[in-house]
Amino acid sequence: MTQNGPSQDQLKDAVAAAAIDEIKPWLERDTVLGIGTGSTANLFIDRLAKLRDDFKGAVASSEASAKRLRGYGIEIFELNSVGTVPFYIDGADEVNAHLHMIKGGGAALTREKIVAACSETFICIADASKRVDRLGEFPLPVEVIPMARSYVARELVKLGADPVYREGVVTDNGNQIIDCFDFMIDDPVAMEARLNAIVGVVTNGLFAARGADVLLLGAGSGVERLTSV
Ligand code: 5RP
Repeated sequence: MTQNGPSQDQLKDAVAAAAIDEIKPWLERDTVLGIGTGSTANLFIDRLAKLRDDFKGAVASSEASAKRLRGYGIEIFELNSVGTVPFYIDGADEVNAHLHMIKGGGAALTREKIVAACSETFICIADASKRVDRLGEFPLPVEVIPMARSYVARELVKLGADPVYREGVVTDNGNQIIDCFDFMIDDPVAMEARLNAIVGVVTNGLFAARGADVLLLGAGSGVERLTSV
């Protein structure tokens, strides 16, 4: 707690706790959960560890999350062997009123989007700083096949973005990340599809076609539970 209220980490932990409350009544011995990536997801994993014996295991959206989950003795499953997950719990870099998001600050966007696509309920956990009216202040990540990086960057410039190669980062899929700066997004659903149509793009960090179903937003006044408008 700071003089001005809870810290960002405390808000992240509060939404992690709220997500546990949200899923706990639904856990069964054969439940396999989808788990995201990042500092908020990590706090969720730390709390989930206490419920280890109440569910079967997890599909992770990154090697880092898989390692953390395994560290707590939570079994990791391949998505292909599971099919769908009842819940996918993950953070976001930005989220709007429609529960469209920008994700991928941690470079895990592709696996995150795949697990989200296979989830029945996507629960986004975020502190209030992530809530925006219009997406794009946070640089939009785009995962690219390495040999296509320059070509994709030129196409992104044509769309009005200022693309910057995230140097030194290799995704879990062996690809590279371009971050789009100065790229405010008016129509996230259309832009998500437009970017994915560029040859060499694996996926982009707009989660709009499949946004979140529930947003647990942590603010000084408590955790707010929001559904898409
Ligand atoms: C990782 C992500 C994360 O969900 C996003 O970056 C938010 O991270 P944090 O919870 O650390 O603020 O998309 O690729």
